[in-house]
Amino acid sequence: MDTTTTTTPANFTVTLPRRVERLVQGQATSDGAGVKLVRVLTQDLQRRLDPFLMLDNFGTENPGDYIGGFPDHPHRGFETVTYMLQGRMRHRDSVGNVGLLVPGSVQWMTAGRGVIHSEMPEQQEGAMEGFQLWLNLPSHSKMREPWYRDIASEEVPEWQGDGAQVRIIAGSSHGVTGAMQREVTEPLYLDVRLQAGASFHQPLADDLNAFLYVYRGELTVADTVVRRHRLAILANTPGSHGTVLTAGPEGAQAILVAGKPLKEPIAQYGPFVMNTQQEIVQAVQDFQAGRLA
Ligand code: FE2
Repeated sequence: MDTTTTTTPANFTVTLPRRVERLVQGQATSDGAGVKLVRVLTQDLQRRLDPFLMLDNFGTENPGDYIGGFPDHPHRGFETVTYMLQGRMRHRDSVGNVGLLVPGSVQWMTAGRGVIHSEMPEQQEGAMEGFQLWLNLPSHSKMREPWYRDIASEEVPEWQGDGAQVRIIAGSSHGVTGAMQREVTEPLYLDVRLQAGASFHQPLADDLNAFLYVYRGELTVADTVVRRHRLAILANTPGSHGTVLTAGPEGAQAILVAGKPLKEPIAQYGPFVMNTQQEIVQAVQDFQAGRLA
């Protein structure tokens, strides 16, 4: 018998769903060597959506928007989770890992004490689309050894419901354990694909911070319509125990993300996220002295 508290029963129905606290439109920006993207979870939302630090959505059919890629750059103090929908991206890092992201695959990288890596498109034309989510590490793990895993598309478990196909990148849903489990923050990361009018129920303890981001069509969450390219922050209403997503007439696709807040100080300078300013100064010094490679 499975006794973990995070596993969802197979036939879970939400009767007291969370409402949408706020809708957020992402900010168009560029990063790396001129890659155009939409920063959906911005720095001002880090406290509200603790333990998540950033969500970028890249999506374009114009090679000029992505061809520069993300040449060598450092990270320290958190994890990056990259999920590809379209396109091919090559990863290389200072630990010696090399990986290729292809449609449907995921890269989970724990930067820990420090990694220098590049993320470069391996295509000259065609569409490039996906997400990068930054997940914070608890203070006692920020300086841990780096870690890395490529998750092939066929390694991402799926749950199929009535008009619903759900890819479970992390956490669990309807009795299906996802590709990744993480202690402390216990992240849930689902790619929910709904046919027109179909609904999907997901339990969420009311202390979890949770949001969803619609990338195709539109859907309704507790009477609030969430249009394409909008982030919906789900209210932590006491006693609520989940969320219900219902697709509009065109169907909908969205990522649903939740996790346990760390409630620790956040100090960020670009690609370094620590707890104190002193630790940030140390990170910059370590990078400049070549101690992150
Ligand atoms: Fe990076």
